[in-house]
Amino acid sequence: MSNLQEKKQREQWSSRLGFVLAAAGSAIGLGNLWRFPYMAGQNGGGAFVAVYLGLLVLVGFTIMLAELTLGRYTQLNAIGAYKKISEKWAWVGALGVLAGFMILSFYSVVGGWVINYVIKALTGAFNTADMDALGGMFGSMITNPFSPIFYHAIFMILTLGIVLGGIKGGIEKYSKILMPALFVMLFAIMLRSVTLPGAMEGVKYFLVPDWNAIDGGVILAALGQVFFSLSLGMGCMVTYGSYIKKDENLLKSALSVPLLDTGAALLAGLAILPAVFAFGFDPAEGPGLVFVTLPAVFSQMPLGGLFGVAFFLLVLFAALTSAISLLEVVVAYVIDEWKWTRKKATLVIAGVIFLVGVPASLSIGPWSGFHILPNMGIFDTLDFISGKVLLPLGGMLLAIFLGWVWGMENAIKEATNDGKLNFALAGVWTILIKYIAPVAIAVVFVQGIISTFF
Ligand code: PFF
Repeated sequence: MSNLQEKKQREQWSSRLGFVLAAAGSAIGLGNLWRFPYMAGQNGGGAFVAVYLGLLVLVGFTIMLAELTLGRYTQLNAIGAYKKISEKWAWVGALGVLAGFMILSFYSVVGGWVINYVIKALTGAFNTADMDALGGMFGSMITNPFSPIFYHAIFMILTLGIVLGGIKGGIEKYSKILMPALFVMLFAIMLRSVTLPGAMEGVKYFLVPDWNAIDGGVILAALGQVFFSLSLGMGCMVTYGSYIKKDENLLKSALSVPLLDTGAALLAGLAILPAVFAFGFDPAEGPGLVFVTLPAVFSQMPLGGLFGVAFFLLVLFAALTSAISLLEVVVAYVIDEWKWTRKKATLVIAGVIFLVGVPASLSIGPWSGFHILPNMGIFDTLDFISGKVLLPLGGMLLAIFLGWVWGMENAIKEATNDGKLNFALAGVWTILIKYIAPVAIAVVFVQGIISTFF
């Protein structure tokens, strides 16, 4: 097949809005609604939020633009994009595909929990503000040996169904309707949460940094969260960028996607942490935080039962639009490089990811005594290695690749549509990519690993 034909066949987003919504759909997911609030709660509240925002500015926007630029230039998947510029760098793309694979295997387990909570909401199972009862319900749900695996399977089937539909038929269509709805709901829940009696202490906890709480572990957690939440460091935005048309404005997309994503994370934090304080719950509780706190908030809202159903449904859709991007990274690689059909690639890969998710789910319940890394079972190890190791390293290597291998002149040429767009910050971007991002990530990574394990 000639190059030209190959290009013609590659699907593209139908409009910039379609792309922004789809990329925001990838970015906004369980990372914002489930992971961000509990990470903030475990890592000092406002201190974590402040470090997060600082790293977002230094590293988040920078790497977002880098990934989109590389993707659109090469029109290829995460590994092919590196290969096209330098064969020697293909392994960096491969690390990304591996990270996507690992993330989806536990992400889908949490997606399954959400489906379970949609059903619980529908049957009115959690119409109470009693935190002990809600905590017990969550605990017995996730530690059950069978039902979380069943829901994990359903989540994977939904994900693969959408990915089978391809880019326009699937990913774009769903994002357009559901993302805006999610913002409206989050906003309403946030309003209820911050007006609960006693909520102000939680608002302070979340917004006012206690600088003493910051250590290497907190900074690495925040860095990992920036990558996880923005879908960076594993080639996801390279892959999505490869579907963007040549005449569209990458600079604007690289700005709007992180802003939308951060808006969603802050709203989720403000919906959850003030309520945690109002109901006398522990902010450092961990992965159960959203599932235990929000039902209590709903019980204090007029039409809370209905609200709960709608909310968990939207969380499910947000999780799906992220999960499809994770699956798409791996599928796009296999289609481009191994020449598999979309159908075969999607079915086989989704099947394998499901299988890896099974022990991850069991590691929370029946296998909880079994640790891979110190104090981490299979689920936590997958989360740790992908989120805190592979994504930051992938981002660092991408910056080095752009700055020192592909070259910033080439990158800027692509990002500005051959110089047609005005990019006032091109000089700043160059310095960030060549020096600041790689060094900052390396320092945070080394310090974080030291304070996590030693
Ligand atoms: N950004 C997604 C979230 O916050 O839920 C998770 C994710 C999707 C991470 C895609 C990485 C990725 F490539």
